[in-house]
Amino acid sequence: MAPQGSSRLLLAPLVLVLVLVPGSLAYSCPRICRCRADTFQCTRETQLGSRARPLSVSKLKLSHLSVEIVPSHAFRDINVTRIEISQSFSITKIQRHAFLSLHRLSEISVQNIVSLRAIEKGAFTDLPRLEYLSICNTGMIHFPDFTSVSSLMSNFMLEMADNTKIDSIPANSFKGIAEEYIFMKLFRNGFKEIQSHAFNGTKINSLILRNNEHLYKIHEGAFDGALGPMTLDVSSTALSSFPAKGLTQVKFLTAVSAYTLKVLPPLESFTELLEANLTYPSHCCAFHTWQRKQRENTMKNLTRLCDVSELDMEPTGDGLDVIDYIAFHYHYLELDCLNSPFIQCTPKPDAFNPCEDLLGYTVLRFLTWVITVCAVTGNLAVLVVLLVSHQKLTISRFLICNLAFADLCMGLYLLLIAAMDSYSSHQYYNHATDWQTGAGCGIAGFLTVFASELSVYTLTVISLERWHTITNAMHLHKRLRLRHVSVIMAAGWVFSLLVALLPLVGVSNYRKVSICLPMDIETLGSQFYVMALLILNVVAFVVVCLCYVCLYLSIHNPELATHHSDTKIAKRMAVLIITDFLCMAPHLLLCLSADLRMPLITVSTPDPGHPVLPNHSLKNPLRCTIYSRPFPKDVWLELLPRGKCQSKPHTF
Ligand SMILES: *[C@@H]1O[C@H](CO)[C@@H](O)[C@H](O)[C@H]1NC(C)=O
Ligand SMILES: *[C@@H]1O[C@H](CO)[C@@H](O)[C@H](O)[C@H]1NC(C)=O
Ligand SMILES: *[C@@H]1O[C@H](CO)[C@@H](O)[C@H](O)[C@H]1NC(C)=O
Ligand SMILES: *[C@@H]1O[C@H](CO)[C@@H](O)[C@H](O)[C@H]1NC(C)=O
Ligand SMILES: *[C@@H]1O[C@H](CO)[C@@H](O)[C@H](O)[C@H]1NC(C)=O
Repeated sequence: MAPQGSSRLLLAPLVLVLVLVPGSLAYSCPRICRCRADTFQCTRETQLGSRARPLSVSKLKLSHLSVEIVPSHAFRDINVTRIEISQSFSITKIQRHAFLSLHRLSEISVQNIVSLRAIEKGAFTDLPRLEYLSICNTGMIHFPDFTSVSSLMSNFMLEMADNTKIDSIPANSFKGIAEEYIFMKLFRNGFKEIQSHAFNGTKINSLILRNNEHLYKIHEGAFDGALGPMTLDVSSTALSSFPAKGLTQVKFLTAVSAYTLKVLPPLESFTELLEANLTYPSHCCAFHTWQRKQRENTMKNLTRLCDVSELDMEPTGDGLDVIDYIAFHYHYLELDCLNSPFIQCTPKPDAFNPCEDLLGYTVLRFLTWVITVCAVTGNLAVLVVLLVSHQKLTISRFLICNLAFADLCMGLYLLLIAAMDSYSSHQYYNHATDWQTGAGCGIAGFLTVFASELSVYTLTVISLERWHTITNAMHLHKRLRLRHVSVIMAAGWVFSLLVALLPLVGVSNYRKVSICLPMDIETLGSQFYVMALLILNVVAFVVVCLCYVCLYLSIHNPELATHHSDTKIAKRMAVLIITDFLCMAPHLLLCLSADLRMPLITVSTPDPGHPVLPNHSLKNPLRCTIYSRPFPKDVWLELLPRGKCQSKPHTF
């Protein structure tokens, strides 16, 4: 019996709470109000008639109201500074003129009333001292009307949060809310779009649209007719672009975790920007580059002006005139150019994220196109000639085919890079994210890794095969057969495919650099992967060198009678391979240094006046890629007409 009794005792308060919360009992009518079952009033009369010392009450808190409607004139002439209505399950509407002409009122807060569907037009009317208006966690469907608030206070703060059912901010929403600049905190609402002229007639100091997860569009003309904002925060929204106009006064811009915001408007729309916290480093880069150019232009103009002024004004002999002249006509120089700090922007562009175009220099671009065209057409031609011709497939021809195929892949990679470079010309920062995280870079990276590994592998096999053939020249039965070589090459293909696939399945990745090389060395696995690749290539180089040293020795050894043709081929192959690897050496060295985080050279133009210039060491791998890999094709093409493949296939 006893345990039952005590549990009942424990339950009692709980039951009481459950009964009370939705019911009218939980709500105690403030002493300065008069409440009935279905309505309430807090007016000057009820305030004066109450037993509390009326004038001492400054805050009116109405929580757990059980009425459905906050009626018109609910607060007629009441003398308080703050009104809070909160935690109600029954209020569905706040009627017109509910808050009318309360000349001492400075704060209104409507909180946690999910049943609230509507605030009628004119509900907040003539509140000249209002400084803070907060509407949070309601079930409102339409954006409330603030147009008759008419606050005269500066630093008016409007807060709207967690109103998940309001899906748009219509035109002229804030007109008439306040005379002075206002702060707007609009968090976690259901906004999907902000319509044209939404801020018409408003002076906006700061506009915080953080965490409006569904906000995907701010209409082009949203800020038409508005002044400001000075501070704009669109973090964690689904925006994919900024409006192109209306942002000229933005000084502080925050857009972190705005992953869909990949494209910036023309940078001229952010003329006053001082500080930006963005999602992608390429965007910071864009700002820095743009600002540097602006500054250079200004300096040029200044120099020109000085020259002109010297000529014009020297006869008057008054140096001050010149300065005055400059100061008068170019007063902004002082602010804009000479003193102003560079835009503080995060995330800072790092070594791997490009500031300018994909191929930053015209020479580089030109070279890339030339090499691309040569590599693709040359290797295609070789493949076609070798495959279409009816001559017997020898080991050497088979290997050369493989090499040509690998180099063709490299050509295609360069083609992709060059094409992307043209496509994103002058605006790489707007394409960087899509490119680097998209399929394009994956394909390009796969191609280049596959091509370089297959090509290194093939070159090694060629050298080994030559060495084997020449050292075993006298033992014909020991010569390699095509099927042996086929098996070896099949292994090479499998190896190259695997190595190129790994970054696509999470071991390192191709996203880190704009030219899609597997440069990500964040995890142990990827460090191991990149190092293994480099070491393998170095080993291959050493093997090839050893082969040729041996070859050289055996050719000059009179005791070993070698086939003349074998030696000739060996010599040509040697040229091909040594060139290839010599070109490869700086590549390896640079990539190795980059991997060890000690970039050997940075290709940035020296600019001491520009402290935030990003490291361009990303250009290193590109440079080496371009200088090293495709050249063997030229050598190869040079060798080709001398008849190794076409005219004198029997030499193989
Ligand atoms: C309102 O209350 C304040 C003090 O709380 C008092 O100074 C003021 O005169 C009152 N205004 C009116 C109109 O009663
Ligand atoms: C913007 O506000 C002005 C007056 O402030 C008004 O004349 C104009 O019609 C408004 N524009 C729109 C598109 O509503
Ligand atoms: C940017 O981030 C830094 C560091 O988190 C912070 O101090 C600064 O106020 C932020 N600026 C803006 C405009 O958000
Ligand atoms: C510099 O002068 C050129 C014309 O001479 C003008 O178009 C440009 O806007 C000026 N730039 C700045 C920053 O004053
Ligand atoms: C380049 O990067 C290194 C370290 O990564 C840094 O110390 C150096 O200041 C950077 N240089 C420039 C010009 O940003």
